[in-house]
Amino acid sequence: MKEIQAIIQPFKLSAVTDALQVIPGVGGITAMDVRGFGHQRGENGLEKPAHGSVNYTPKVMLVLAVPDAVVAPVLAAIERHAHTGNPGDGKVLVLPVEDALRVRTGERGEGAL
Ligand SMILES: Nc1ncnc2c1ncn2[C@@H]1O[C@H](COP(=O)(O)OP(=O)(O)OP(=O)(O)O)[C@@H](O)[C@H]1O
Ligand SMILES: [Mg+2]
Repeated sequence: MKEIQAIIQPFKLSAVTDALQVIPGVGGITAMDVRGFGHQRGENGLEKPAHGSVNYTPKVMLVLAVPDAVVAPVLAAIERHAHTGNPGDGKVLVLPVEDALRVRTGERGEGAL
């Protein structure tokens, strides 16, 4: 199992969600409004920020726990539907997941996803 943390541009949320929710093995998605910066330190990439300053820009973070085999189609869908080609398009992290629990049924591991 892996946890995928995808930080994307908010206006891409619905397109990315539409693409992810039809992938077999995607049992659910958590979405959070977050703020962040990357290499451009919150600027548009055309101008350097003033020395020492950083702008946190609104982003959306999607969190999905999926079986290992589902990581590749999820990343492909995010790459395809969150991409504009401009700085700030986003970042995706893939983390190992040790266990999961489906509260209603008591299922554990992949069966809980
Ligand atoms: N190394 C990182 N660790 C944690 N969060 C990050 C990291 N890099 C980016 N983020 C988050 O992802 C968001 C989008 O990052 P962004 O797309 O600007 O990355 P980038 O590496 O600067 O790429 P680009 O050059 O295409 O802009 C940031 O606003 C921040 O919330
Ligand atoms: Mg950036």
